Amino acid sequence: MYEERVVSGMRPTGALHLGHYHGALKNWVRLQSEYPCYYFVADWHALTTHYDEPGTIEANVWEMVIDWLAAGIDPAQATLFIQSRVPEHAELHTLMSMITPLGWLERVPTYKDQQEKLVDKDLSTYGFLGYPLLQSADVLIYRAKYVPVGADQVPHIEFMREIARRFNHVYGREPGFEDKAKAAAKKMGSRKAKLYAQLRTSYQEQGDNEALAAARSLLEEQQNLSVGDCERLYGYLEGGGRMILVEPDVLLTEASKLPGLDGAKMSKSYGNAIALREDAESVKKKIRTMPTDPARVKLTDPGDPDKCPVWQFHLVYTDDKTREWAAKGCRSAGIGCLECKQPVIDAVLAEQGPMKERAQRYLDDPTLVRNIIADGCDKARKLAQETMREVREVMGLDYK
Ligand code: TRP
Ligand code: SF4
Repeated sequence: MYEERVVSGMRPTGALHLGHYHGALKNWVRLQSEYPCYYFVADWHALTTHYDEPGTIEANVWEMVIDWLAAGIDPAQATLFIQSRVPEHAELHTLMSMITPLGWLERVPTYKDQQEKLVDKDLSTYGFLGYPLLQSADVLIYRAKYVPVGADQVPHIEFMREIARRFNHVYGREPGFEDKAKAAAKKMGSRKAKLYAQLRTSYQEQGDNEALAAARSLLEEQQNLSVGDCERLYGYLEGGGRMILVEPDVLLTEASKLPGLDGAKMSKSYGNAIALREDAESVKKKIRTMPTDPARVKLTDPGDPDKCPVWQFHLVYTDDKTREWAAKGCRSAGIGCLECKQPVIDAVLAEQGPMKERAQRYLDDPTLVRNIIADGCDKARKLAQETMREVREVMGLDYK
């Protein structure tokens, strides 16, 4: 019934760079063949911090989608869409806000951290406080199983798990729940209903997690149960009420191993980034002028790769043999820094070549991108609407 969906979003606040690629995007590309993946442009989330520069968002939405496609996101496998074109996200956000304690939002660490970091922005807004709740709506509306994000986002996933639990606790306790759950089980046929009941008992009485997993996959296979009955059976299994919203798990994305040109975190605002599809001449120039171990003033001064940001690029981009050559040549002053940088330049350009090629199709014909997004929005919206029907019903909004 609930497929094992992956949902993740990115804010369109600037051109994507190689740090994004080696951090998040490569992971998205890998996941698309393993799960049904829903990747979206989080334009509303961009507005929570960039509300005074709408132009930035507009300029970056399509460029970001092209960056995704360039990186190898395949629209035949993954569903790509734009958050604001599935307005149900906003509806769920509003409805969930009714049961969201203010203290929960105030305690999310990014709230204070970002306010302290982005001092030139007034982030004491309602929208910014609600950032994690909007993010919760993004994920919960698809009843996602996994959310691939970096470590900084883990508190947001924990927050949405708590919101899902609270929602189910408040709205999943319908009158006659147990009888309805039992009636739902019968609809699977008596053999499966019996198996379900046995597995449920094993889980609830002996804490048998394998029984829980087996019962869940039994439910997953059911094709002809209504959404409401599925919610009852998932909830009854675990000892609660109807499971209207599903608690997702984090799929932790390893931090990008690729720092910026100066060795600090790669970021457009630090001016140390290489854009995903940056022009080759500019890439060459940027790497050639990268700072190196300051001890190597003259060619005859030996250096230490561990004190050089170029070495970090070698670790991501070159093979063992090249690295050995570079490290040895550096320590013995046998090679110059420009020489050492050449294989890195070659590898970055080789990585970018196919990306630029893939992007060119879309740059030449922007309607291709518009169509991919239109299809993705339709597909996402259908799922979102299904969840919203349930949410409205349990919140008493289904009156005629
Ligand atoms: N907050 C995320 C970030 O800054 C972006 C985001 C918005 C997101 N909604 C999401 C990520 C839902 C995962 C799932 O990276
Ligand atoms: Fe850096 Fe290479 Fe120069 Fe050593 S030789 S300082 S590793 S660029």
